Amino acid sequence: MTLKTTISEAAARTGAPSISSLMKLALERPEVVSLAAGFVDQQSLPVQATAAAVAQILGDEPAGRAALQYGTTIGDEALRAILVERLEVQHGVPPGTYRKAVGRTVLTTGSAQLIYLVGEALLDPGDIVIVESPTYFVFLGPLETRGARAIRTPIDEGGLRLDALERTFEEIRDRGELGRVKLLYTIPEHANPTGISLADDRRKPLLDLVRRWSETAGRRIPILEDSAYHGLSYGRDEARSLWSLDPEGETVILARTFSKTYSPGMKLGYGVLPADLVDPVLSIKGNHDFGTSNLVQKLVRLVLANGEYDRHVERLKALYARKRDVFLEAIDRHFEPLRDRVSWTRPEGGLYVWMTLPEGVDTGFDGPLFPRCLSEGVIYVPGEFAFAPEPTPPPRNHLRLSFGVPDEATLAEGARRLAGAVRATIG
Ligand SMILES: Cc1ncc(COP(=O)(O)O)c(C=O)c1O
Repeated sequence: MTLKTTISEAAARTGAPSISSLMKLALERPEVVSLAAGFVDQQSLPVQATAAAVAQILGDEPAGRAALQYGTTIGDEALRAILVERLEVQHGVPPGTYRKAVGRTVLTTGSAQLIYLVGEALLDPGDIVIVESPTYFVFLGPLETRGARAIRTPIDEGGLRLDALERTFEEIRDRGELGRVKLLYTIPEHANPTGISLADDRRKPLLDLVRRWSETAGRRIPILEDSAYHGLSYGRDEARSLWSLDPEGETVILARTFSKTYSPGMKLGYGVLPADLVDPVLSIKGNHDFGTSNLVQKLVRLVLANGEYDRHVERLKALYARKRDVFLEAIDRHFEPLRDRVSWTRPEGGLYVWMTLPEGVDTGFDGPLFPRCLSEGVIYVPGEFAFAPEPTPPPRNHLRLSFGVPDEATLAEGARRLAGAVRATIG
């Protein structure tokens, strides 16, 4: 008799990441223009600066041995201090203002691990996380694994709509479920998937609103501020983070990463946590992996200290700003005849454009557009993946388009093919 393995309820709840089939497709069909992958520009990756940093660290025997040893679970203290000092510079506050935050800063294996750990530390099955509509679809996976419910709240061109968020809280309260709300997850800078940023004049009111509802709930409802695209602003200043309005960490959990601004292959992220979340997160992280790659932390510390990181970010911003311009110009041109029925965002940073087709047009794998696009030689991420399932069935008429990977000519060609497929689909 062949016996079957019984998997856990958590594993059974967990589906494969929604875009794994798209990744496979892009690899198998290189002639297809992929506007789907959220990868970074391949040619821009900082090989020389990283090679020099590796040579410097390993060229010094004691430093090399230290880097090749395990580190601590919380991560390299000198690097954490540098990260906090950089927050002080970004927020224009005197050196030392955030000194206490060094002990609340945790280095993680990408920001994906940080947001996963926060979910593990906060959520029990049946708990509620309020997310933007649409949101970063990968975060919906860990919520599914935890058995938590994601409830969406609308955004507009200024990000989270505070009036709508107020209503979302009221509806949850009226159902008697306020006690289950454990987290608000937001991407206030050049969001994935929309490219939209939270308007400056909504930032402090957002904090006030969530604090007021925390008082009503009788318990802190943290805001998880995922700023994965921080640093990649094109032609505008970087926004002040929500965390800068709450540096004591009363409410805001800040999540950042070096993946988009330096190298996703190095997979280094970090979080600045409220004091009472540090130990729970570190205990769970200790069980996951003991600590993030020590060598990677030393490398990032060095490229931050020697200026290579900042020079790289400047080059990247120029590169992505050009790609964004070429892509939007091609979209504007090819979609001109459809302008009254199709709309798209104009991101001031990040890597994504969010397109909206007329209601009723299904952009999913089983709808008419996706196979049409595939035969034209272009793919995108169906927008439906980016919507939490509650409170109503997700809309299906959106597309996430990424301009990070293809070169300028390929982006223009991708826009042309996409417009052809959309025209053929919606008539
Ligand atoms: C919004 C957002 N958060 C987090 C991540 C995770 O990135 P990493 O784990 O590489 O830091 C991504 C990656 O695409 C993202 O788009």
